[in-house]
Amino acid sequence: MFMKLCATKDISPGEMKQFDLIEEEILVVNLSGQFYCLEARCSHAGAPLYEGSLEEEVLTCPWHYSQFKIKDGSVLRGPARKPLRVYRTEIKDRQIFVETERPEGRKIEESKNLKSERS
Ligand code: FES
Repeated sequence: MFMKLCATKDISPGEMKQFDLIEEEILVVNLSGQFYCLEARCSHAGAPLYEGSLEEEVLTCPWHYSQFKIKDGSVLRGPARKPLRVYRTEIKDRQIFVETERPEGRKIEESKNLKSERS
């Protein structure tokens, strides 16, 4: 089931935003106009990744600086060992949709601040 999160204009290139769904937290990242939805907590110890930093296609965790590849969630640098889950994402009518496994899921909060790419 796909769920609408927000409009594409709400997340500028190089920014990311967290959405809290029931039992799932999703991080939406805008990489040069391409949108990716990943699990929002670091697979190492659960840091909120929206507080991390984006540099090109790499997301760095704010706590112990693990690095993940945005496009596939793979670990580029530990201590994290488990990749981040990447959710199927669709853009329709300039809106961002994410595929969630929970049909009862609904958006309960659009949360957390935007984080800009470091330059
Ligand atoms: S919580 Fe992310 S590297 Fe430890």
